[in-house]
Amino acid sequence: MAKIPVIIDTDPGIDDFMMLIVGLAHEKIDVRLITTAAGNQEQDKTYENALRMVSYLGKDVEVARGLDRPIFKELETAPDFHGETGTGKVLFPDPVIEGSQRPAISAMYDVIMTSDEPITIVTSGPLTNVGMLLNAHPEVKFNIKKISIMGGAAMGGNVIPTAEFNIYADPDAAELVFRSGVPVVMSGLDATREAYLLESEIEAIREIGTDLAEKVYKMLKFYQEAAEGSPFNVPYFEDVVRLHDACAIAYVIDPSLFRGNFYYVTVERASPLTAGTTFVDYLNTLDMQPNAYVLYDVNRDELVNLFFDALHQY
Ligand code: RIB
Ligand code: CA
Repeated sequence: MAKIPVIIDTDPGIDDFMMLIVGLAHEKIDVRLITTAAGNQEQDKTYENALRMVSYLGKDVEVARGLDRPIFKELETAPDFHGETGTGKVLFPDPVIEGSQRPAISAMYDVIMTSDEPITIVTSGPLTNVGMLLNAHPEVKFNIKKISIMGGAAMGGNVIPTAEFNIYADPDAAELVFRSGVPVVMSGLDATREAYLLESEIEAIREIGTDLAEKVYKMLKFYQEAAEGSPFNVPYFEDVVRLHDACAIAYVIDPSLFRGNFYYVTVERASPLTAGTTFVDYLNTLDMQPNAYVLYDVNRDELVNLFFDALHQY
């Protein structure tokens, strides 16, 4: 089976780790490069976490350090949900792999421009690295098949009532991605809020009995307890754990797990109240050509099966 060449840009991050577990194990995916974004935690921590996670999973994939801060906004991290380390309270062993000698954007440029087939980019954090790559080197577009992002929402937010964290964290970079002309698949909250794990499934993870399963269990329980404490008393925030980021890689593996539609998407950046909101024009009020395939539903059971299958491969 021909593998899909992929670059993963990520801000690990608890659910980012779940996405890496799937992406680094699945037979259809050839991870050519991992780059780190500042988001859930600052760049020093997300870069170190990615190195430790990739090493711990026994993979030898280039991990390149990304930009330290959003294009214009101040960096806002999410320690309440991911902890001071970005991994809940779980500690990973020192990495046995070296970090890349190349900064993320240079590494992305080289991997894309030298690939003998178009690259799929999968993102699970703020789009700072990808937005800056496309802005600085638009020539890479010819050899990017699509960008599958976890981010945004047609309706409802999680960091402010109208915006999702990854887009809110760097709205300018996100706009550069949406207007780039490269096909975007948007795993927004409309789909990922349905990508939840049942309590029984979280316990079943622990029963796998491996060190990885124990680490995953502890990280998910940290994430769950953080959600319990969240200030929002709305249906989306009851104390369930969501595999937000896993949706971005799962779509690449099996698009049939999802339902979506093509819409024009742009990012609100000027309003002090709603900056970071993805304006998903599903009413076609602007009469603009669609630039994203926006997911609105996921086959939750099959997504969870994909996650469990990956867990059993380590
Ligand atoms: O809104 C959810 C997203 O924000 C996920 O990528 C999570 O890891 C955080 O980065
Ligand atoms: Ca993330």
